[in-house]
Amino acid sequence: MKYLDSDHIRLSDDKNTVIILDQSLLPSREEYKSLSTVNEMYDAIKRLEVRGAPLLGIFAGYSMYVLARHYDTKDPIEFGKRFHEDSVYLNSSRPTAVNLSWALNRMEKVFIENIARGIPAVLEMLEKEAVMIHEEDIAMCRRMGEYGLTLLSDEDGLLTHCNAGALAASRYGTQLSPVYLGLEQGINFRLYVDETRPLLQGARLTAYELAKAGVDTTLLCDNMANYAMSQGLIDAVIVGADRIASNGDTANKIGTSQLSVLAKEYNIPFYVFAPYSTIDMNIGSGDDIVIEEREPEEVTTLWYKNRMAPLGINVLNPAFDVTKAENITAIITDKGVIKPPFAEKFTELFKKENNV
Ligand code: MRU
Repeated sequence: MKYLDSDHIRLSDDKNTVIILDQSLLPSREEYKSLSTVNEMYDAIKRLEVRGAPLLGIFAGYSMYVLARHYDTKDPIEFGKRFHEDSVYLNSSRPTAVNLSWALNRMEKVFIENIARGIPAVLEMLEKEAVMIHEEDIAMCRRMGEYGLTLLSDEDGLLTHCNAGALAASRYGTQLSPVYLGLEQGINFRLYVDETRPLLQGARLTAYELAKAGVDTTLLCDNMANYAMSQGLIDAVIVGADRIASNGDTANKIGTSQLSVLAKEYNIPFYVFAPYSTIDMNIGSGDDIVIEEREPEEVTTLWYKNRMAPLGINVLNPAFDVTKAENITAIITDKGVIKPPFAEKFTELFKKENNV
C-alpha cells in the first residue's frame, strides 16, 4: 500500500469487483481481496476486513454499484427490488457508524432519481456517485487536516485511539489528517498510539501506517494513558468518530470515553475529527446510538496462541462507547472547527448547509 494515497479501496479495472486491502491481516500481511457478491461484502464488513466509518461509506458506494452491474434483469421494478434488498442487508452488518447508512441512502436516492432513464443510465450515475463519495472523502479529510493544524503546534505529543487514519478513510484519514498534512508542511508531531483492545486497531493499523509514513510513533497499552498524561507527554488527544448526536455526544471505539475523562482531569484538549456526514441530527443524544456488541472470543482468544481467560467466563465486548459532549474541546469537521455549545452550532451549520 502506498501511504497518503487511497489505493486500499478501489474498483477493479473491469468494474465487476470492489478491491480492498484486507485490514484483518495487517500488519503481518498486505493482501488485497476482490469482492463481487453481497455476502462477500457483508462478511468483509462484519470481519473488519474493511472498517473505519468513512471507509465503510466509500465501500458501500462501490459495493452497490458493483452489485447493480451484476443484476441479470432488465425489469426496472425487479432491479429496484434487488437494489433495495442488498442495501438493507449491507446496512444491517454494523449498526454504529452512520457513514454506512448515509452512503447507502445516497446510492438509493441516485437509483430512484434515475431509474426512469433506464438501467444503463442508472448504472452510469451509480458509478459517478460512488466515485464522488470517495473523492469527496479525500477532500474532506484534507480540510479537516487544515483546520486541525490551527489547533496544534509543532512537536506536540498527540495521543490516538483506534485507527482513524488513511486506512479508515482515504489518503489523510480523519484523526490523523493534521499529522499527514503536517508532514507535508514540515510540522512534526510525536504520536502516542493506544493499542486499542480487543482488536488492536491502534497497534496493528495506526502504528503501522504512521511508522510507514515516517512519523515519530510510540505504542502504549490502553491502560497507560494516565501515566503518559501524568508525565507530560501528551499535549492533545485526537480521535475519530462513528456517529455524533445532535448534542455533540460522540460514539467512537470502546475506550475513547475514558480518555476524555482523563484528558479533562489533566486539562488536556480532547479533539474529535469527523466529516460533517458523521453528525446525525436525527438523534438527540448518545443514549440513542446503537452500540455494536461483538463476539466474546475477540477478548478471550482471538489474538493469542493460548486462551487468555478461563473457559466459559462471561465477557462484555461492546465495540464502541459514547464520549459526552461536555468532555470534548472541539469537533473538527470539513466545515470547520466546532466548539461548544455543539447543539446550537450544529443547528446553525445544518440550516446553512441545507439552505433553511
Ligand atoms: O471497529 P472499527 O475499527 O471500524 O472502529 C473504527 C473507529 O472507531 C474509528 O475511530 C472511527 O470509525 C473513525 S474512522 C475515521
